[in-house]
Amino acid sequence: MKSPHHLEGCYTIGDLRHLARNRLPRAIFEFFDGGAEDEITLRANAAAFDRWAWCPHVLRDVSQVDLGSELFGLPLGLPMAIAPTGAGGFGHPDAELGLARAAAKHRIPYSLSSSATTRIETIAEQAGGRLWFQAYVLKDQAHFWRLIDRARVCGYEALIITVDLPVGGKRYRDFHNHFSIPFRMTARNLWDFLKHPAWLLRILKNGMPVMENLREMAKTSRPLAMANEIASTVGKGYDAAFDWDRLKEVRDRWPGRLIVKGVSRGDDAHRLVQVGCDAMVVSNHGGRQLDGARASLMALPEVVQSVAGRVPVWMDGGVRRGGDVGKALALGAQGVLLGRATLYGAIAAGESGANRALDILREELQRTLQLCGAAQLKELNAELLMPSDR
Ligand code: FNR
Repeated sequence: MKSPHHLEGCYTIGDLRHLARNRLPRAIFEFFDGGAEDEITLRANAAAFDRWAWCPHVLRDVSQVDLGSELFGLPLGLPMAIAPTGAGGFGHPDAELGLARAAAKHRIPYSLSSSATTRIETIAEQAGGRLWFQAYVLKDQAHFWRLIDRARVCGYEALIITVDLPVGGKRYRDFHNHFSIPFRMTARNLWDFLKHPAWLLRILKNGMPVMENLREMAKTSRPLAMANEIASTVGKGYDAAFDWDRLKEVRDRWPGRLIVKGVSRGDDAHRLVQVGCDAMVVSNHGGRQLDGARASLMALPEVVQSVAGRVPVWMDGGVRRGGDVGKALALGAQGVLLGRATLYGAIAAGESGANRALDILREELQRTLQLCGAAQLKELNAELLMPSDR
């Protein structure tokens, strides 16, 4: 297959991934693309969707399809939201704001990562739409609460607490590429950059990105001689002692909606409902944390069963097609977070790339529904799927 060099030549999320790979230095692309250790979970997440086959209905009126959904009593244009992903500015200066604006255009929520390269306030002022703020639990509790307060003051609708990384996972692609944050220039990186002049010019014009919302904390943390990857720098600031009691404290102090991201078991899911979270996301961090963890789609039915409709269950991990979204919904998810799928578009081409990714997914989801004989999302259910014998 010919690899696309322009957005107009991108028809699938796979095409957008190729475009991003062509446009970005290798070390940068692989930071976004890669997973932990042997990348078993990274691959399993995507492969899990192929383990289910559609059993479509025919002879139904699917001339009009409604892809609208709702969450927390408010309408959604699609059963999707943008997942929090850090360090977007290393790919494209507009990656984060572009994703947020594309999300607003498609009437879905955007989640800003605490490791983003754009300030909490900038997104609130310039993006529009429904905004969620994702916080990692930091050892520096004062800073953690300051971030959450800033999100509250800016009117973010929901707080996402990510619970699947008490410590940072190890992504060996980053080690081999000498990719670290703060960025360290090596001869190989320099050569890698010079081969991508358009990317380099954008970076030179906008300045080397920094994790804007963690700046203050970075000043107090000791610079590492061998800052091999994000996990060795910012990751050192995560609080591995965070537990159920502390989550309860967050619940009590945050007045808005609380979403917990990173659950993968029914018993934990049950307890999350008891703690008072408003929604949860079945996730293994896109295979960037515990390698060997089961695919999100495999964990989903157990969580859905345990939660039994008390709060919405969403999922993420490996979604690369609109049909994947359909399968997640058929297995009980109320919606999916989009990680790399929209990120590839945004790091390749900013806001237009993010819009392209969402257009592709919307169109694919619509066609999947029509070909399955479903005119509405609520018609997607497990009876439309069977384990694939491929
Ligand atoms: C992430 N993810 C993530 N999650 C989070 O809670 N906070 C974060 O800052 C980040 N940062 C981040 C950076 C990059 C480059 C990636 C690829 C992922 C995980 C993300 O929210 C989501 O769970 C996964 O991306 C979902 O998997 P897919 O869709 O990328 O396969």
